[in-house]
Amino acid sequence: MHLGRLSLVPRPAYSIMSSSSAQAASRLSTIHRHLSDGAGSQSGEGRRPAQSNVQHLTVFGAGLMGAGICQIGAQSGLKVVLSDVTDQALENGLNIIRKSLARVGAKTHPDTVEKFTRSIMDNIETTTDAAKAVAHADLVIEAIIESLKVKRDLFGFLDKHASASCIFATNTSSLSVSDIAESCSKDRQANFAGLHFFNPVPAMKLVEIIRTPHTSESTYQTLYSLTKRMGKSPVTCKDTPGFIVNRLLLPYLMEAIRMVERGEATPEDVDLAMELGAGYPMGPFKLLDFVGLDTTSYIASGWREKAAANPGTISSDLVRPIPFLEDMVKQGRLGRKSGKGFYDYKSK
Ligand code: NAI
Repeated sequence: MHLGRLSLVPRPAYSIMSSSSAQAASRLSTIHRHLSDGAGSQSGEGRRPAQSNVQHLTVFGAGLMGAGICQIGAQSGLKVVLSDVTDQALENGLNIIRKSLARVGAKTHPDTVEKFTRSIMDNIETTTDAAKAVAHADLVIEAIIESLKVKRDLFGFLDKHASASCIFATNTSSLSVSDIAESCSKDRQANFAGLHFFNPVPAMKLVEIIRTPHTSESTYQTLYSLTKRMGKSPVTCKDTPGFIVNRLLLPYLMEAIRMVERGEATPEDVDLAMELGAGYPMGPFKLLDFVGLDTTSYIASGWREKAAANPGTISSDLVRPIPFLEDMVKQGRLGRKSGKGFYDYKSK
């Protein structure tokens, strides 16, 4: 879940879930090709402790988050390989980065924007070949679609192709980092953690570093130093649903919807109250429309499943289903992206 500058709800798996089965099959076959290209040889290196000095970063997924992570890596002087399943996706990612750098450059290097942009872009290479992408990687950050199976397939494959000391990190917002890491060998699981960036990555200072019970101290320390080098403010959290920000944010958003469902206050008044009374930059309904109501509903249902599987760790009551929310989703009132949510954006 990613709530823009304010917070974070991940883009849900609906890129997969809402596809027709033909589209899904075609996407899986593209992903399969991506994982087969250049495959066949293991690194041959023995298992070593995690990298302490990251110079080569590989980012998987050239979407909104992956492009942002690639950009800040390149801006911090790392050599970055950006990998996705199609050339088109890579081109989209590069365009996101170019536009963002042009905005940054206009502020920081107003007379030499092009030179500035080129100097950062020179640190970036792209490939659709997943094995080649990790051949020299010290660190892999995965920012692909929010699907446990697709993430596990990718990491299981990369485990055989990356050097033994390479650190693996996932940017998942709603999946368990341990569940993803289990696709890798025991040794790799020590070099595996969550690195949860916020959208938009170049602007948002926070990164949540997620330690699983297997994450080694050296892996954690490397990630901590690297996020600082990227100009971020890292916080640390165990592998718990929602980590820190979403864990607190989601119940708050859900309760705001329930207030409106019960007829206690209007969305406009709740937003104004939280903006002026609690000092929040954006009230919950503006935020919900920004994130997407389908995304919010999807994340809440994932949380409930997690709660059912892990009784005692997290309360499902906090995110119990809200008929009012489900009705809005059924009507296609998804927020800004559909033109209407709690507010109407068509007339603006
Ligand atoms: P997106 O849909 O914009 O981009 C995902 C990219 O991954 C696409 O370009 C797709 O082609 C690519 N991809 C799919 N399978 C792949 C594979 N096997 N190998 C390489 N690339 C593959 O998604 P977005 O929003 O960037 O999210 C990515 C991840 O970041 C998700 O796990 C999401 O939960 C998480 N996240 C998202 C936030 C947001 O606000 N959108 C915030 C924080 C985390």
